[in-house]
Amino acid sequence: MSQLPFPKSFNLVFFGGAGDLVTRKLLPAMYQCHRTGRLVESGRVFCLDLLDMTQDAFLAMVNDRVRQFVPEADWDDAAWATFLSRLTYMKLDATQPEQYPALKTLLKRTPAEVNVFYLSTAPFLFATICSNLTRQGLNGPSSRVVLEKPLGHDLASSNAITADVDRFFHEKQVYRIDHYLGKESVQNLMALRFGNSLFEPLWRRMWISNVQITIAEDVGIGSRGGFYDKTGALRDMVQNHLLQLLCFVAMEPPASLDSDAIRNEKLKVLECLVPFTPEDVLTKTVRGQYRAGVSGGRQVKGYLEEDNIPADSTTETFVAIKAEIANWRWAGVPFYLFTGKRLPTRLAEIVVHFHDVPHHIFPLPSSGSRAPSKLVIRLQPDEYIRLYLNAKAPGDSMELQPVSLDLDFAGKFKGRRAEAYERLLLDTIRGNQALFVRQDELELAWRWVEPILNTWAADPSGPKPYAAGTWGPAASSELLSRDGFGWHDED
Ligand code: BG6
Repeated sequence: MSQLPFPKSFNLVFFGGAGDLVTRKLLPAMYQCHRTGRLVESGRVFCLDLLDMTQDAFLAMVNDRVRQFVPEADWDDAAWATFLSRLTYMKLDATQPEQYPALKTLLKRTPAEVNVFYLSTAPFLFATICSNLTRQGLNGPSSRVVLEKPLGHDLASSNAITADVDRFFHEKQVYRIDHYLGKESVQNLMALRFGNSLFEPLWRRMWISNVQITIAEDVGIGSRGGFYDKTGALRDMVQNHLLQLLCFVAMEPPASLDSDAIRNEKLKVLECLVPFTPEDVLTKTVRGQYRAGVSGGRQVKGYLEEDNIPADSTTETFVAIKAEIANWRWAGVPFYLFTGKRLPTRLAEIVVHFHDVPHHIFPLPSSGSRAPSKLVIRLQPDEYIRLYLNAKAPGDSMELQPVSLDLDFAGKFKGRRAEAYERLLLDTIRGNQALFVRQDELELAWRWVEPILNTWAADPSGPKPYAAGTWGPAASSELLSRDGFGWHDED
């Protein structure tokens, strides 16, 4: 994560360049980088896609689309006009080798220190694209490929993607995106842990009873039914985002901010994750599927009524998992992972629960339960760190009451918070791999989720229903209560 110098010139090439991700996230992010003066003047952006469109038609489409995804306060007509002058559209069918020489000719017009090829396409195209880039001599030492998820459907298909790309590009040239790593709040977790000595002595089994990591979404699957039904929450959210968050919470302090120093430590966490037996899957995981309910004050459909979803689908839209890490720091400390669609609200947070005091001298609070200290790291939508401690309630009794020490980042650091893709795109140009997933991490993450996928596939009971707008099936809170814990909002 150390700051590498920015190259003097770059060509950033988006395959799938008129698609949803590019126009919704990547071009808005590049525009923000441009507007805030973080791009060198001789940086060019190329969008390649199948659509037969003139440059002008493309720019008009981009104009309409990107405007929807840039906050009004950040819209600047003059900056937008100069940003458009960086953009070039080219029609290219990525499956057709004879169309690549034209790409080579196009890129030759703006020779650059760095060429970044961002494959925002279905993974089955990765090998063809990498092979054709190589054949055209576009795979030099300063060429990089950026791969978007899904990187596989299971371990075998993920390994096949890795092998395909590996035939042409060295691991040092490959940038696997997990957009959670681009979030300021996730990087802040590193700052909290490794920029302060306060927590480090406490950050272990002697003082921590359990860790809860939640990514909740209030939205349903929207128009992504076809994709989502083949994917499900375990592949969509746990295999990548949740496991990456778990790694940042559980990893040992890296020796430096160098890419491999960080990724080596994350890898060790993944190596220590206790694998699931089929029996474990039945007792330590819960899968759910939303039914009709009320979300955001309005009645919404159940998953099975969504477009492009088979009426008998058993795809999970909710997952709860009790994970364990077998090493000296974490043995015996459960890490509960939760994620789901159509939950009551959108939030991502990590809650570190500390052990209760070993001996109680204060009376039991009138609430009937004691509240051991906990640290809440809220990642989104708001960003804060809140440390809950016990204090004496004013008055004659010695009753304790939880109070919190609050650090609100938006209040503390004024100004706009960059979107994840801004940081990630700049890092691909700069050549910093720290916030990208290395091949061995990807493989271990798949290795860990695969027994869960297999056991679920063979279990006819299917996902447990939950009403949209609720916190998932009751069985998920039982996962905690069985161990004597509560979800932190229920404490
Ligand atoms: C994506 C998933 O990776 O992450 C989506 O495919 C999910 O299903 C999204 O909605 C959540 O990201 P964020 O940044 O909105 O929390």
